[in-house]
Amino acid sequence: MTEKPVKNKKKIKRHGISVLFVHWAAAISTFALIFSGLGQLPLYKRYMLDQLPGLSWLSDYSVTLSIHYWAATVLIFAIAYHIVFHGIRRDFDMLPRRGDMKESVQIIMAVFGFGKEPENDKYLAEQRLAYAFIGVSLLILLLTGIIKALKNLPYINFSEGFIFWITQLHNAGTFLIIIGVVIHLGAFIFKENWPMLPGIFTGKIDLEYARRRHSIWYNRVFVKKR
Ligand code: HEM
Ligand code: HEM
Repeated sequence: MTEKPVKNKKKIKRHGISVLFVHWAAAISTFALIFSGLGQLPLYKRYMLDQLPGLSWLSDYSVTLSIHYWAATVLIFAIAYHIVFHGIRRDFDMLPRRGDMKESVQIIMAVFGFGKEPENDKYLAEQRLAYAFIGVSLLILLLTGIIKALKNLPYINFSEGFIFWITQLHNAGTFLIIIGVVIHLGAFIFKENWPMLPGIFTGKIDLEYARRRHSIWYNRVFVKKR
């Protein structure tokens, strides 16, 4: 009788605790900000969701504003931590590089069976672009949000025209971040990207996957070190 092949399930470290903390603090606070921001528009009142039993607080402005401020505090901390942490370590793996657009098209075509995927570094070109897109959207929301919060203080006044444009930008940022999150999560519909999922929960991914798909990173960090 032939023996069943033993699967080599060796794992390697992809993310440290700081990266996991920042990802989940930013993700959870972003969900809460989208949810509470839409409540202020006031979408839940317009579509009468607040009429459902136990959900009247959805259109209570003081509740949604309070959620918005608490979540904003978490997001601001996560972003500041992220910038300081990666700045000190000079770790810029996730920043976009020249040619990322072209490479992303190649990667997406390869997923659909056309052509070969290029060799990848720690992050795929499309991940670096997604990072920049989400990052810019969050920075727009953060800067305009802080100005909107200052406006709410009794002793600070801005001109009406200025606040109008800041609000337009805050709303545009909301639109962009929703698109960014949908695309980000949409990437995990594809089986090719599934091996990255355990990494964002446990910090570890399959060694064989890293060697095959992220060969530039694998060779730099795990082969040359030995
Ligand atoms: C508001 C919600 C979220 C935001 C703003 C966010 C943001 C990001 C960003 C900027 C990256 C790095 C670039 C990239 O891979 O696109 C990333 C990576 C990742 N995220 Fe999210 N994320 C969110 C929610 C989630 C959720 C709900 C999951 C899965 C259940 C998830 C799983 C991952 C994974 C697997 C990676 C890849 C890490 C790697 O390359 O090893 N994210 N996220
Ligand atoms: C993912 C991030 C965020 C999203 C999706 C978001 C979304 C929204 C939306 C849809 C509104 C209601 C429409 C409007 O008044 O413009 C709003 C209002 C507001 N947001 Fe945000 N926001 C985010 C982050 C922030 C941050 C970081 C702050 C900083 C403190 C902030 C502060 C505010 C303030 C002060 C208001 C207006 C409350 C009022 O006076 O009625 N937001 N946000």
